[in-house]
Amino acid sequence: MTVAPVVDVGSPMLEIDGLTKRYSGLVALSNYALDLRPGSIHGVIGPNGAGKTTLFNLLSGMVRPTSGTIRLFGVDMTNSPAHDVARAGVARTFQNIRLFGDMSALDNVKVAVQQRLPIGLAQSLLSTPAFRRREHEITERARETLERLGLAAVASRPASSLPYGDQRRLEIARAVATEPKILLLDEPNAGMNPTETADLLDLIRRLRDDLDLTIILVAHDIPLVMNLCDRIQVLNYGELIADGDPAMVRNNPDVITAYLGQASHA
Ligand SMILES: Nc1ncnc2c1ncn2[C@@H]1O[C@H](COP(=O)(O)OP(=O)(O)OP(=O)(O)O)[C@@H](O)[C@H]1O
Ligand SMILES: [Mg+2]
Repeated sequence: MTVAPVVDVGSPMLEIDGLTKRYSGLVALSNYALDLRPGSIHGVIGPNGAGKTTLFNLLSGMVRPTSGTIRLFGVDMTNSPAHDVARAGVARTFQNIRLFGDMSALDNVKVAVQQRLPIGLAQSLLSTPAFRRREHEITERARETLERLGLAAVASRPASSLPYGDQRRLEIARAVATEPKILLLDEPNAGMNPTETADLLDLIRRLRDDLDLTIILVAHDIPLVMNLCDRIQVLNYGELIADGDPAMVRNNPDVITAYLGQASHA
């Protein structure tokens, strides 16, 4: 007997059409569309309140859209809850870091790995050999992930005691630990200095290449996005005002007015 695959590998990775989110009178995102190319680093920029985080909230299943569709590997995920979206291979980081501050860096990542490799309650209570094997596997995978993110040396330190840049990378470690296919990074360099940002740029590229990831990156840092992304979309008041390669976006007069105009008044 053949079993139908859950995902159709021949299908487009992520197709979004007409995606709209209204909050009472306010349209946070309007008629957004995307056809995500596998292996790409896709940038989304725009002024404060443009709808970038809203897009990630919708994409990760944390917020329900008002209208529009989200298809992931050919499957309609428009109204799927966050855990189903995560299981289908989408992981995200948060603009406002969300770590367990009192827990060690390692334990923060272990919690994320566990979501991927859940341990049955009975197994854990009885501490069976299978449980101990699984626990070992989770710890190893978490250590590996910390190493990949350059955080091995701080594995045992409480997350809240880490420098800001390390906390940002720990957020990424937690997302990567779930072994996603698509990684959503919301302002990953917020609060970083230029050296940390340059290191982050290399790290994101390496993650894409080594883990075969496709990345959507939201950022305010235009040089970062211009350097890193193959394609860039620009949102303004929830509307897509530009969509193209970095050179095209850089020279788009609407973008200069909307985005750079605000930056010069910031
Ligand atoms: N839960 C909510 N309820 C009401 N309005 C919301 C909610 N979430 C977002 N908004 C509004 O939607 C708009 C888009 O917000 P969003 O956070 O997506 O912007 P952003 O592009 O991520 O901005 P920033 O660059 O400041 O992070 C804003 O006007 C915001 O106030
Ligand atoms: Mg935001």
